[in-house]
Amino acid sequence: MGVKSMKIIRSPKEMAEFAKELKANSQKITLVPTMGALHEGHLSLVKKAKEEGGICVVSIFVNPTQFGPNEDFAKYPRQLESDFKACENEGADVVFAPSAEDIYAPDFSTYVNEETISANLCGKSRPKHFRGVTTVLTILFNIVKPDVAIFGEKDAQQVSVVKRMVRDLFMDTEIKTVPIYREESGLAMSSRNRYMDPLERKGAARIYKALCEGKRISDSGCTNVDRIKAAVINSVSNAKTRVIYVEIVDSETSLPISEVVPGKSRISMAVWYGQIRLIDNILI
Ligand code: PAJ
Repeated sequence: MGVKSMKIIRSPKEMAEFAKELKANSQKITLVPTMGALHEGHLSLVKKAKEEGGICVVSIFVNPTQFGPNEDFAKYPRQLESDFKACENEGADVVFAPSAEDIYAPDFSTYVNEETISANLCGKSRPKHFRGVTTVLTILFNIVKPDVAIFGEKDAQQVSVVKRMVRDLFMDTEIKTVPIYREESGLAMSSRNRYMDPLERKGAARIYKALCEGKRISDSGCTNVDRIKAAVINSVSNAKTRVIYVEIVDSETSLPISEVVPGKSRISMAVWYGQIRLIDNILI
């Protein structure tokens, strides 16, 4: 059972009260946490949330604590009005879009820190990124009280970190995932793709092609991580692309492995494509 028309809630207090009311009426709540600038990838999460039944809440919050000092927080795309429309079209029941001031008190001083998975891959080049993610998700979970939260495999390390946090802290929210949604070229959809012109977007599809090359080698029976890594790096490299990392990891924990376990491993990579930092991954 949904609410009649989509509700837009800005105030954390109002959201918390509404969630409490839903719980009192035994309604299931499913949360889709986002930073907005919604594209088809995000909307596939909303579709999955709708399949859960109950009330679908989409949060839109560009979270300052997960951006590094030299990252794109200030210029991160913000387009609330069109995001609201997109959520309404997908049948979301509630959009929760708080302001940074309403989430973080001026003297905010409590962080949630997952210490193992967060240290690898993106954590190496973005040292406080996952601390920001786990902290804001704890805040959002406390406000929205979701029974289920939906995440995209595009950010596979984020999924591993969030699952570990939920397990370690006995949080009462089930984490579910959806596959990576790609543009026709193979490029994984991302809010940051809009920083690229059409030609650059086409060129950036080489990231997915490199992952496919890695998968092809793995599928042919190779379990040697160094060989697969080298092939992916070789395939992606050109004048515009600077590899940040290519790693073969356990698909569940996102921790590095020394030998591929077919069906349970993942190639994860991050590159600078011109001025834009892009990530992608593929199961092998
Ligand atoms: P954001 O980058 O907006 O992504 C929100 C959710 O959409 C994440 O779970 C992400 O994995 C998923 N997503 C993005 N692009 C996708 C694609 N092409 N295919 C499938 N899923 C995709 O991730 C965040 O925001 C933040 O870190 C957040 C979890 C909201 C915490 O601030």
